[in-house]
Amino acid sequence: MRIGLVGTGRIGAFHAETLAGLPKVDGLVLTDLDQARAQSVAEKVGAQLVPDVATLLRAGIDGMVIAAPTPVHADLVRLAAAAGLPAFCEKPIAPDVAGTRAVLAEAADAGTPLQMGFQRRFDAGYRAVRDAVRRNVLGWLHTLRACTSDPAPPHADYIPTSGGIFRDCSVHDFDIIRWVTGREVVEVYATGGNRGESFFAAAGDVDTGAAVLTLDDGTIAVCTATRYNGAGYDVRLEVCGSAGTLVAGLDDNAPLVSAEGAGWPAGRPYGSFMERFRAAYVAELTAFCDVIAGRMASPCSGEDALEALLVADAADRSRREHRPVRLEEVRG
Ligand SMILES: NC(=O)c1ccc[n+]([C@@H]2O[C@H](COP(=O)([O-])OP(=O)(O)OC[C@H]3O[C@@H](n4cnc5c(N)ncnc54)[C@H](O)[C@@H]3O)[C@@H](O)[C@H]2O)c1
Repeated sequence: MRIGLVGTGRIGAFHAETLAGLPKVDGLVLTDLDQARAQSVAEKVGAQLVPDVATLLRAGIDGMVIAAPTPVHADLVRLAAAAGLPAFCEKPIAPDVAGTRAVLAEAADAGTPLQMGFQRRFDAGYRAVRDAVRRNVLGWLHTLRACTSDPAPPHADYIPTSGGIFRDCSVHDFDIIRWVTGREVVEVYATGGNRGESFFAAAGDVDTGAAVLTLDDGTIAVCTATRYNGAGYDVRLEVCGSAGTLVAGLDDNAPLVSAEGAGWPAGRPYGSFMERFRAAYVAELTAFCDVIAGRMASPCSGEDALEALLVADAADRSRREHRPVRLEEVRG
């Protein structure tokens, strides 16, 4: 099958390599506003380069992967739906809830599948935790601790359109907590701090955030995120229950050091999301090929992305207004 890819920046260039290596993909067409960047990626992976999205849509593609910046996702999902093409979209669909709902309605009218890029759903550790919760191995859950810690901030221009740390980083935790537990979030209480560069505060954002979620069965989940984790890329989920605890992301490459001098984790710390989730990115794009072929329904729907965005909206409002925010308040 032939796949079209829009955007060849950080994640797009990585997806281009992954897609080019999938046995099911025999043609890759890509475009980027920055044609020089797209050209170098096309040459590296052996893809066809086209000048714009309109040309991409006429290039005989079977599905579209959207890895352009957040503000253009909604238009690109709309264009894919209007062309009758299944779409894979990096989060979020749109920066706000109203925009997300409008796009979802158009995709539903067109009847085209939409898969969102919450790759943790394809990570072996997170899948094992979900399986244990579903089999009731851990008993009833009392505490979840999730972290998304980037080693260094993205470029400064990225921050003003990123949606803020909860919509950009913690949204992955919000999605995976819903997916692992099968529960919905009912309330969020969040805070944040700025001890790094000034461009976060200038954009009304924080470089470090923490959100306490209450789930609909009373389970508490604590989610932290930072842009300045010098030890490495640290993404984990600890799920603690009345009968046991299971952790995703606690392997030899976890960027942790024991204060007791234990010689573990012994490996080189993860440096980036590409290293940490390489296998998950391959699995999610392999699944997208199955979605295109009609062999499976979207494993991460637009409605899932909307729910995670609502939790992020509640966290953002809670941080700004210094108060707990119920989900129905942001659901509208
Ligand atoms: N799932 C994940 O782990 C993950 C990780 C990083 C980023 N993301 C998401 O991926 C998206 C891209 O992030 P990034 O870090 O790769 O950004 P980036 O800025 O590195 O790259 C974006 C690319 O899109 C191009 N572009 C901009 N407007 C365009 C348009 N209208 N048409 C075509 N190309 C256009 C830019 O020239 C650039 O090359 C964001 O929405 C982000 O939230 C997801």
